[in-house]
Amino acid sequence: MTKLIIDCDPGVDDAVALFLAFASPDLEILAVTTVGGNVGADLTARNARVIRQIAGREDVPVHAGATRPMVRAPVEADHFHGESGLGDLAVFEPTAPLAAGHSVDVIVETLMTQPAGVVTLAVTGPMTNLALAMRREPAIVDRIGHVVIMGGARTEGGNITASAEYNIFADPHAAQVVLSSGCRCVVLGLDATHQVRATDERVAALRALGTPAAQAAAEVIAFSNGIERDLVGGKSAPLHDPCVIAYILAPQLFTTRPCRLEVETGSALTLGHTAVEFRLADPAAATVRWVTQANADGVFALLNDALAAK
Ligand code: BDR
Ligand code: CA
Repeated sequence: MTKLIIDCDPGVDDAVALFLAFASPDLEILAVTTVGGNVGADLTARNARVIRQIAGREDVPVHAGATRPMVRAPVEADHFHGESGLGDLAVFEPTAPLAAGHSVDVIVETLMTQPAGVVTLAVTGPMTNLALAMRREPAIVDRIGHVVIMGGARTEGGNITASAEYNIFADPHAAQVVLSSGCRCVVLGLDATHQVRATDERVAALRALGTPAAQAAAEVIAFSNGIERDLVGGKSAPLHDPCVIAYILAPQLFTTRPCRLEVETGSALTLGHTAVEFRLADPAAATVRWVTQANADGVFALLNDALAAK
Protein backbone atom coordinates (compact mmCIF):
# COMPACT_ATOMS: atom_id res chain seq x y z
CA MET A 1 0.00 0.00 0.00
CA THR A 2 1.35 3.43 -0.91
CA LYS A 3 0.59 6.12 1.69
CA LEU A 4 -0.48 9.18 -0.24
CA ILE A 5 -1.46 12.82 0.17
CA ILE A 6 -3.20 14.28 -2.89
CA ASP A 7 -2.79 18.05 -3.15
CA CYS A 8 -5.09 19.36 -5.88
CA ASP A 9 -7.24 22.15 -7.35
CA PRO A 10 -10.23 20.39 -8.95
CA GLY A 11 -10.47 21.13 -11.90
CA VAL A 12 -11.84 18.63 -14.40
CA ASP A 13 -8.64 16.61 -14.79
CA ASP A 14 -7.94 16.74 -11.05
CA ALA A 15 -11.40 15.21 -10.67
CA VAL A 16 -10.44 12.27 -12.89
CA ALA A 17 -7.19 11.89 -10.94
CA LEU A 18 -9.22 11.73 -7.72
CA PHE A 19 -11.61 9.15 -9.16
CA LEU A 20 -8.65 6.99 -10.17
CA ALA A 21 -7.02 7.30 -6.75
CA PHE A 22 -10.23 6.72 -4.81
CA ALA A 23 -10.88 3.53 -6.80
CA SER A 24 -7.38 2.10 -6.42
CA PRO A 25 -6.99 -0.49 -3.64
CA ASP A 26 -3.19 -0.11 -3.65
CA LEU A 27 -3.37 3.44 -2.29
CA GLU A 28 -3.87 4.46 1.32
CA ILE A 29 -5.02 8.06 0.88
CA LEU A 30 -4.13 9.83 4.12
CA ALA A 31 -5.63 13.16 3.04
CA VAL A 32 -6.81 15.19 0.10
CA THR A 33 -5.60 18.77 0.47
CA THR A 34 -6.91 21.51 -1.78
CA VAL A 35 -5.53 24.82 -2.99
CA GLY A 36 -6.88 27.76 -4.96
CA GLY A 37 -5.96 27.34 -8.62
CA ASN A 38 -8.15 26.46 -11.56
CA VAL A 39 -11.01 28.09 -9.63
CA GLY A 40 -11.08 29.79 -6.23
CA ALA A 41 -10.09 27.91 -3.08
CA ASP A 42 -13.68 27.69 -1.81
CA LEU A 43 -14.72 25.92 -5.03
CA THR A 44 -11.74 23.56 -5.23
CA ALA A 45 -12.44 22.44 -1.63
CA ARG A 46 -16.13 21.92 -2.45
CA ASN A 47 -15.31 20.11 -5.70
CA ALA A 48 -12.97 17.64 -4.00
CA ARG A 49 -15.85 16.75 -1.66
CA VAL A 50 -18.25 16.38 -4.61
CA ILE A 51 -15.87 13.88 -6.24
CA ARG A 52 -15.31 12.10 -2.92
CA GLN A 53 -19.06 11.66 -2.48
CA ILE A 54 -19.62 10.33 -6.01
CA ALA A 55 -16.75 7.91 -5.40
CA GLY A 56 -18.24 6.84 -2.06
CA ARG A 57 -14.99 7.61 -0.20
CA GLU A 58 -16.16 9.79 2.69
CA ASP A 59 -13.59 7.93 4.81
CA VAL A 60 -10.87 10.12 3.23
CA PRO A 61 -10.52 13.57 4.84
CA VAL A 62 -10.56 16.64 2.59
CA HIS A 63 -8.81 19.76 3.92
CA ALA A 64 -8.91 23.27 2.45
CA GLY A 65 -5.67 25.16 1.93
CA ALA A 66 -4.00 28.22 0.50
CA THR A 67 -6.32 30.74 -1.09
CA ARG A 68 -3.57 32.72 -2.85
CA PRO A 69 -0.18 32.03 -4.42
CA MET A 70 2.95 32.86 -2.36
CA VAL A 71 3.88 36.05 -4.19
CA ARG A 72 2.02 36.68 -7.42
CA ALA A 73 -1.66 37.53 -7.92
CA PRO A 74 -4.03 34.57 -8.40
CA VAL A 75 -4.56 33.29 -11.96
CA GLU A 76 -7.62 31.11 -12.48
CA ALA A 77 -8.29 28.81 -15.43
CA ASP A 78 -12.07 28.64 -15.41
CA HIS A 79 -12.07 29.04 -19.20
CA PHE A 80 -10.72 25.45 -19.25
CA HIS A 81 -12.68 24.06 -16.30
CA GLY A 82 -16.04 25.86 -16.38
CA GLU A 83 -17.44 28.27 -13.81
CA SER A 84 -17.82 25.56 -11.15
CA GLY A 85 -14.43 24.01 -11.95
CA LEU A 86 -16.09 20.72 -12.88
CA GLY A 87 -17.28 21.48 -16.41
CA ASP A 88 -20.88 20.42 -17.00
CA LEU A 89 -21.03 18.00 -14.07
CA ALA A 90 -24.11 18.60 -11.93
CA VAL A 91 -22.49 19.87 -8.74
CA PHE A 92 -24.24 19.74 -5.36
CA GLU A 93 -23.47 20.66 -1.78
CA PRO A 94 -21.75 17.52 -0.44
CA THR A 95 -23.10 15.84 2.66
CA ALA A 96 -19.78 15.37 4.45
CA PRO A 97 -17.98 18.54 5.55
CA LEU A 98 -14.38 19.59 5.19
CA ALA A 99 -12.05 18.12 7.80
CA ALA A 100 -10.57 20.46 10.38
CA GLY A 101 -7.05 21.70 9.75
CA HIS A 102 -5.46 23.79 7.02
CA SER A 103 -3.82 21.85 4.17
CA VAL A 104 -0.39 23.23 5.08
CA ASP A 105 -0.70 22.02 8.68
CA VAL A 106 -1.99 18.63 7.57
CA ILE A 107 0.95 18.14 5.19
CA VAL A 108 3.41 19.06 7.97
CA GLU A 109 1.72 16.93 10.65
CA THR A 110 1.34 13.91 8.38
CA LEU A 111 4.97 13.97 7.27
CA MET A 112 6.24 14.51 10.82
CA THR A 113 4.18 11.69 12.32
CA GLN A 114 4.42 9.02 9.60
CA PRO A 115 7.70 7.13 9.30
CA ALA A 116 10.30 9.02 7.25
CA GLY A 117 10.33 8.18 3.56
CA VAL A 118 6.98 6.43 3.32
CA VAL A 119 4.59 9.22 2.29
CA THR A 120 4.19 10.06 -1.39
CA LEU A 121 2.74 13.41 -2.38
CA ALA A 122 0.71 13.73 -5.57
CA VAL A 123 0.54 17.40 -6.56
CA THR A 124 -1.87 18.30 -9.35
CA GLY A 125 -2.28 22.04 -8.77
CA PRO A 126 -0.11 25.05 -7.98
CA MET A 127 2.50 24.00 -5.40
CA THR A 128 1.57 26.68 -2.83
CA ASN A 129 0.56 24.30 -0.01
CA LEU A 130 3.68 22.16 -0.23
CA ALA A 131 6.05 25.14 -0.51
CA LEU A 132 4.43 26.81 2.52
CA ALA A 133 4.70 23.52 4.42
CA MET A 134 8.43 23.36 3.59
CA ARG A 135 8.88 26.93 4.80
CA ARG A 136 6.91 26.22 7.96
CA GLU A 137 8.74 22.99 8.85
CA PRO A 138 11.93 22.48 6.82
CA ALA A 139 12.41 19.04 8.41
CA ILE A 140 9.62 17.64 6.21
CA VAL A 141 11.89 17.76 3.14
CA ASP A 142 13.91 14.78 4.35
CA ARG A 143 10.81 12.87 5.43
CA ILE A 144 9.02 12.92 2.05
CA GLY A 145 9.17 9.65 0.11
CA HIS A 146 8.76 11.42 -3.18
CA VAL A 147 6.63 14.08 -4.83
CA VAL A 148 4.95 13.34 -8.14
CA ILE A 149 4.02 16.60 -9.82
CA MET A 150 1.97 17.66 -12.82
CA GLY A 151 3.62 20.81 -14.04
CA GLY A 152 5.95 22.46 -16.49
CA ALA A 153 6.87 22.05 -20.14
CA ARG A 154 10.11 21.56 -22.05
CA THR A 155 9.55 20.57 -25.68
CA GLU A 156 5.84 21.39 -25.84
CA GLY A 157 5.92 25.10 -24.96
CA GLY A 158 3.32 26.47 -22.60
CA ASN A 159 -0.44 26.16 -22.30
CA ILE A 160 -1.19 29.38 -20.40
CA THR A 161 1.54 31.53 -21.94
CA ALA A 162 3.92 30.80 -24.80
CA SER A 163 6.45 29.24 -22.44
CA ALA A 164 4.67 28.37 -19.19
CA GLU A 165 2.40 25.56 -18.11
CA TYR A 166 -0.53 26.59 -15.88
CA ASN A 167 0.37 24.97 -12.51
CA ILE A 168 3.87 26.47 -12.53
CA PHE A 169 2.70 29.85 -13.88
CA ALA A 170 0.01 30.06 -11.19
CA ASP A 171 2.65 29.90 -8.43
CA PRO A 172 6.19 29.92 -9.84
CA HIS A 173 7.77 30.88 -6.52
CA ALA A 174 6.20 27.88 -4.80
CA ALA A 175 7.35 25.59 -7.62
CA GLN A 176 10.90 26.87 -7.29
CA VAL A 177 10.84 26.23 -3.51
CA VAL A 178 9.71 22.62 -4.00
CA LEU A 179 11.89 21.76 -6.98
CA SER A 180 15.05 23.19 -5.43
CA SER A 181 14.38 21.70 -1.98
CA GLY A 182 16.36 18.52 -2.55
CA CYS A 183 13.39 16.20 -2.06
CA ARG A 184 12.87 13.50 -4.69
CA CYS A 185 10.51 14.78 -7.40
CA VAL A 186 9.08 13.21 -10.54
CA VAL A 187 7.70 15.86 -12.87
CA LEU A 188 5.02 15.15 -15.48
CA GLY A 189 5.00 18.20 -17.70
CA LEU A 190 3.12 18.82 -20.90
CA ASP A 191 5.77 16.83 -22.80
CA ALA A 192 4.32 13.73 -21.13
CA THR A 193 0.67 14.61 -20.60
CA HIS A 194 0.14 15.74 -24.20
CA GLN A 195 0.83 12.11 -25.16
CA VAL A 196 -2.21 10.96 -23.15
CA ARG A 197 -5.22 12.12 -25.15
CA ALA A 198 -8.88 11.41 -24.48
CA THR A 199 -9.96 10.24 -27.91
CA ASP A 200 -13.69 9.79 -28.48
CA GLU A 201 -13.20 6.01 -28.40
CA ARG A 202 -11.48 6.17 -25.02
CA VAL A 203 -14.20 8.41 -23.56
CA ALA A 204 -16.92 6.11 -24.91
CA ALA A 205 -15.22 3.06 -23.37
CA LEU A 206 -15.03 4.82 -20.01
CA ARG A 207 -18.67 5.92 -20.13
CA ALA A 208 -19.77 2.39 -21.10
CA LEU A 209 -18.46 1.06 -17.78
CA GLY A 210 -21.65 2.54 -16.35
CA THR A 211 -20.48 3.08 -12.76
CA PRO A 212 -21.17 6.50 -11.16
CA ALA A 213 -17.45 7.38 -11.06
CA ALA A 214 -16.86 6.26 -14.66
CA GLN A 215 -19.83 8.24 -15.93
CA ALA A 216 -18.84 11.38 -14.03
CA ALA A 217 -15.24 11.01 -15.24
CA ALA A 218 -16.44 10.57 -18.84
CA GLU A 219 -18.62 13.66 -18.49
CA VAL A 220 -15.83 15.96 -17.30
CA ILE A 221 -13.44 14.59 -19.92
CA ALA A 222 -16.05 15.18 -22.65
CA PHE A 223 -16.30 18.78 -21.41
CA SER A 224 -12.51 19.12 -21.75
CA ASN A 225 -12.70 17.75 -25.27
CA GLY A 226 -15.23 20.46 -26.14
CA ILE A 227 -12.88 23.13 -24.78
CA GLU A 228 -9.97 21.55 -26.65
CA ARG A 229 -11.95 21.89 -29.90
CA ASP A 230 -13.26 25.41 -29.20
CA LEU A 231 -10.25 27.11 -27.59
CA VAL A 232 -7.17 25.12 -28.58
CA GLY A 233 -8.06 23.88 -32.05
CA GLY A 234 -7.30 20.26 -31.15
CA LYS A 235 -9.60 17.24 -31.04
CA SER A 236 -8.87 15.30 -27.87
CA ALA A 237 -7.88 16.91 -24.57
CA PRO A 238 -4.80 15.75 -22.69
CA LEU A 239 -5.43 13.90 -19.43
CA HIS A 240 -2.88 15.85 -17.37
CA ASP A 241 -3.50 15.17 -13.68
CA PRO A 242 -4.53 11.48 -13.85
CA CYS A 243 -0.99 10.81 -15.13
CA VAL A 244 0.28 11.63 -11.62
CA ILE A 245 -1.80 8.88 -10.03
CA ALA A 246 -1.05 6.55 -12.94
CA TYR A 247 2.69 7.11 -12.39
CA ILE A 248 2.34 6.25 -8.69
CA LEU A 249 0.38 3.08 -9.50
CA ALA A 250 2.34 1.97 -12.56
CA PRO A 251 5.65 3.82 -13.08
CA GLN A 252 6.56 1.33 -15.81
CA LEU A 253 4.10 3.17 -18.08
CA PHE A 254 6.44 6.18 -18.12
CA THR A 255 10.03 6.97 -19.09
CA THR A 256 11.98 9.45 -16.96
CA ARG A 257 15.34 11.22 -17.16
CA PRO A 258 17.34 12.76 -14.32
CA CYS A 259 17.55 16.54 -14.64
CA ARG A 260 18.08 19.84 -12.91
CA LEU A 261 14.94 21.96 -13.05
CA GLU A 262 14.81 25.70 -12.41
CA VAL A 263 11.67 27.82 -12.56
CA GLU A 264 11.73 31.33 -14.03
CA THR A 265 10.49 33.75 -11.38
CA GLY A 266 12.09 37.00 -12.52
CA SER A 267 10.85 37.69 -16.03
CA ALA A 268 7.40 39.00 -16.88
CA LEU A 269 7.65 37.51 -20.38
CA THR A 270 8.63 33.96 -19.43
CA LEU A 271 7.34 33.78 -15.84
CA GLY A 272 6.82 30.14 -14.84
CA HIS A 273 9.00 28.70 -17.61
CA THR A 274 10.66 25.44 -16.55
CA ALA A 275 14.32 25.20 -17.57
CA VAL A 276 15.00 21.47 -17.70
CA GLU A 277 18.71 20.58 -17.95
CA PHE A 278 19.66 17.01 -18.80
CA ARG A 279 23.43 17.66 -19.06
CA LEU A 280 24.46 16.83 -15.52
CA ALA A 281 27.92 16.25 -14.09
CA ASP A 282 26.53 13.50 -11.86
CA PRO A 283 23.13 12.22 -13.08
CA ALA A 284 22.95 9.68 -10.23
CA ALA A 285 22.89 12.55 -7.72
CA ALA A 286 19.90 14.28 -9.32
CA THR A 287 16.81 14.53 -7.10
CA VAL A 288 14.45 15.55 -9.91
CA ARG A 289 13.33 13.33 -12.81
CA TRP A 290 11.52 14.63 -15.89
CA VAL A 291 9.02 12.39 -17.66
CA THR A 292 9.69 12.13 -21.39
CA GLN A 293 7.35 9.32 -22.49
CA ALA A 294 3.92 8.12 -21.41
CA ASN A 295 2.04 5.00 -22.48
CA ALA A 296 -1.43 6.41 -23.17
CA ASP A 297 -3.13 3.03 -23.74
CA GLY A 298 -1.68 1.87 -20.43
CA VAL A 299 -2.95 4.93 -18.57
CA PHE A 300 -6.48 4.50 -19.96
CA ALA A 301 -6.43 0.76 -19.22
CA LEU A 302 -5.51 1.57 -15.61
CA LEU A 303 -8.34 4.11 -15.40
CA ASN A 304 -10.90 1.75 -16.91
CA ASP A 305 -9.87 -1.16 -14.71
CA ALA A 306 -10.14 0.99 -11.58
CA LEU A 307 -13.46 2.64 -12.44
CA ALA A 308 -15.12 -0.53 -13.72
CA ALA A 309 -15.70 -1.57 -10.13
CA LYS A 310 -16.78 1.84 -8.73
C1 BDR B 1 -2.71 21.70 -15.35
O1 BDR B 1 -3.35 22.96 -15.20
C2 BDR B 1 -4.65 22.81 -14.71
O2 BDR B 1 -5.52 23.65 -15.39
C3 BDR B 1 -4.99 21.35 -14.84
O3 BDR B 1 -5.86 20.94 -13.81
C4 BDR B 1 -3.66 20.67 -14.74
O4 BDR B 1 -3.30 20.45 -13.39
C5 BDR B 1 -2.40 21.48 -16.80
O5 BDR B 1 -1.56 22.49 -17.26
CA1 CA C 1 -4.94 20.57 -11.63
